[in-house]
Amino acid sequence: MRKILTRDGSETLYSEEYQETYHSVTGAVEEAFGKYVKPCKIESGMNVLDICFGLGLNSLAALHTAKEITITALEKDENVLRHEVKVPEYLREDYKKIRTAAENLYYKDDKAEIKVLLGDARETIKQLNEKYDAVFLDPFSPPKNPELWTEEFFINIKKHMKKEAILATYSCARKVRSNLSKAGFEVKDGPCVGRRSPSTIAIA
Ligand SMILES: C[S@@+](CC[C@H](N)C(=O)[O-])C[C@H]1O[C@@H](n2cnc3c(N)ncnc32)[C@H](O)[C@@H]1O
Repeated sequence: MRKILTRDGSETLYSEEYQETYHSVTGAVEEAFGKYVKPCKIESGMNVLDICFGLGLNSLAALHTAKEITITALEKDENVLRHEVKVPEYLREDYKKIRTAAENLYYKDDKAEIKVLLGDARETIKQLNEKYDAVFLDPFSPPKNPELWTEEFFINIKKHMKKEAILATYSCARKVRSNLSKAGFEVKDGPCVGRRSPSTIAIA
């Protein structure tokens, strides 16, 4: 894995294994806010499921937006959790909390709680016994990371969402959207961030 500086000044990683970057090179932090936090309407009091925690930038954007928040994050790669990246100055205090969560798989203060479940998300999702207000779905692309874009996985995600809860993902691939629909989600265009095509929001 090597670091890449994205165009908003924040860093991401390039995965040799998947031959993809962890975020859009147009802006890692911009993507976290624009494609995940904003469409999911993150606000204080929410219970958020972050599927594919990676460097934790989507969780970071959520934590910065809503100080009182509970986040459960799923990630299979222990190695990525050790990587620290550059984030803008205004996010540094919250990033320390994300780093603690990444290192200890847990962080808690009087307002926020973050749990990281290590393992294949198809299995760890079955261990969840809560319902979520918002879900961030951020695997590598469907051709490279197909197991997390299936109808079966989407059905398991939906079981853990409150009614009308929003799932956000960057992909607008036809197959992804049709699997979301088959799993019972209402599928809509999400915002266009850093490119012409929209992201996707799916309502439970
Ligand atoms: C595009 S990156 C996520 C970027 C992340 N949201 C961030 O802010 O850095 C995809 C992540 O999904 C993880 N991943 C891939 N397949 C997985 C699986 N089956 N279960 C859990 N995590 C998986 C990878 O290890 C990687 O960290």
